[in-house]
Amino acid sequence: MAEHDAYAEYAYPEDPWLRANMIASVDGAATRGGLSGALGNEADRVLFHKLRGLADVVLVGAGTVRAEGYGPASVPLAVVSRTLGFDYSSPLFQGRTILVTTATAPGLAEARDHAEVIVAGEHSVDHRLALKLLHERGLTKVLCEGGPSLLGQLVGAGLLDELCLTVSPVLLGGSALRILHGPPAAQELGLASVRQDGEHLFLRYRRR
Ligand SMILES: NC(=O)c1ccc[n+]([C@@H]2O[C@H](COP(=O)([O-])OP(=O)(O)OC[C@H]3O[C@@H](n4cnc5c(N)ncnc54)[C@H](OP(=O)(O)O)[C@@H]3O)[C@@H](O)[C@H]2O)c1
Repeated sequence: MAEHDAYAEYAYPEDPWLRANMIASVDGAATRGGLSGALGNEADRVLFHKLRGLADVVLVGAGTVRAEGYGPASVPLAVVSRTLGFDYSSPLFQGRTILVTTATAPGLAEARDHAEVIVAGEHSVDHRLALKLLHERGLTKVLCEGGPSLLGQLVGAGLLDELCLTVSPVLLGGSALRILHGPPAAQELGLASVRQDGEHLFLRYRRR
């Protein structure tokens, strides 16, 4: 008999599909000491990699890539950027990295020498178009790993299908970003599943 898949509920239900995976403290802080890693536990790190393994591509904002020091991943990384302010000798460009940017981005020609480039928009990335262009490359199971600015825009554009949210058992106060940042972006959610591992909660919401 096939081994029971403890993560069966995370199988992508439809194609294409945009899932986000985020973590927050109980009072909604998306960072601790400026990074998200300090909020997680081992189960969160396992889920992080499990979700990557299920995805065709990870969609992530350049702010997160810089803050968290993203390197090459087991899955292609689609990095959203307007400025294309990258060090192309960094580990980020050792794997398959797709830069999702605009027609007016500085250094567009240089970027093409170092990475795949998707141009989606004139001055700001049009996320609906960017997703369509990823889908056309066969990258239809999309996992967004934030950050809050990117996720806020995706929700604002009505593009998010599912949110995996880890709740970290801590109160932080202060002025840390929430998991969505930017203009108001309302999205009604239905609770799809709840897991507990240690004192962390693993919630999965789908668009209503
Ligand atoms: N709690 C969590 O689950 C979680 C997850 C991820 C990140 N984080 C934390 O969140 C922080 C980073 O988040 P953030 O919100 O500052 O950054 P972000 O959303 O990761 O990235 C913002 C950057 O993405 C690019 N961008 C965003 N929208 C764009 C558009 N429409 N067109 C073109 N480019 C666009 C710009 O890059 P350029 O500057 O290159 O132009 C912008 O500076 C870090 O502290 C990180 O640790 C937390």
